Amino acid sequence: MQLLLMGPPGAGKGTQAAELVKKFSIPQISTGDMFRAAVKEGTELGKKAEACMKSGTLVPDEVTIGIVRERLAKDDCKNGFILDGFPRTVEQADALAKILDELGKKLTRVLNIHVPAEDLIERAVGRRICKGCGATYHVKFNPPKKNSTCDNCGGELYQRADDNEQTMTTRLSTYESSTRPLIDYYKKVGVYTEIDGRQPIAKVTEDLVKVLSSVKD
Ligand code: AP5
Ligand code: MG
Ligand code: ZN
Repeated sequence: MQLLLMGPPGAGKGTQAAELVKKFSIPQISTGDMFRAAVKEGTELGKKAEACMKSGTLVPDEVTIGIVRERLAKDDCKNGFILDGFPRTVEQADALAKILDELGKKLTRVLNIHVPAEDLIERAVGRRICKGCGATYHVKFNPPKKNSTCDNCGGELYQRADDNEQTMTTRLSTYESSTRPLIDYYKKVGVYTEIDGRQPIAKVTEDLVKVLSSVKD
């Protein structure tokens, strides 16, 4: 199954991808996570990505497309994958079509998690992530059992550098101008499904799984 999880910043792509990884045993490919790891390691890629991420704009297409091309060629993607946060521009979507064509694969489904703009800043600003295992929490909507500690591994929770109101405002306008056009793009391809992302996390997962149980690979 080749899945694409779309949606504005804070919509729940990462949260839902983690559930689908467990359910379908295929890897999550999050360009945001890949860039954050590169920034942490101080690699060349990290240096290219850091300023864009801090300001809430997009990392240049040629950089982003290059890392996805390499990642999708890896062995663990043979039986499918879940793209999270890629593509974000029409140029990236065209490049993805070409990469998949070269690999002899097709997108099974594009799942767009729809959440209205007014909810997204609260979701991002309240997000907390585990330093140990990467699990995602929210101070109000999905709090850990013990304050600032991960339920899974006891790790310390932190806040992403771009999860503040100012950067989030830029991320939302970047989404509107560069990424929203992909909704029509994938409607035309005929693989598009919209999911109501305002529901509780478990209900969104249920809806995604329902859609996926009826699609043909
Ligand atoms: P990236 O890391 O992809 O950030 P994003 O797209 O802005 O999305 P988020 O990760 O913020 O949100 P999410 O949808 O994963 O939500 P989550 O599940 O965590 O990208 C970061 C940056 O990297 C970009 O700004 C850009 O600079 C660069 N980049 C990445 N990809 C790129 C590309 N392709 N091209 C160019 N540049 C790129 O949930 C959010 C919060 O809400 C959590 O706290 C969660 O607990 C909570 N929550 C989740 N679901 C629900 C629910 N149903 N109800 C209530 N709360 C919920
Ligand atoms: Mg994410
Ligand atoms: Zn953890």
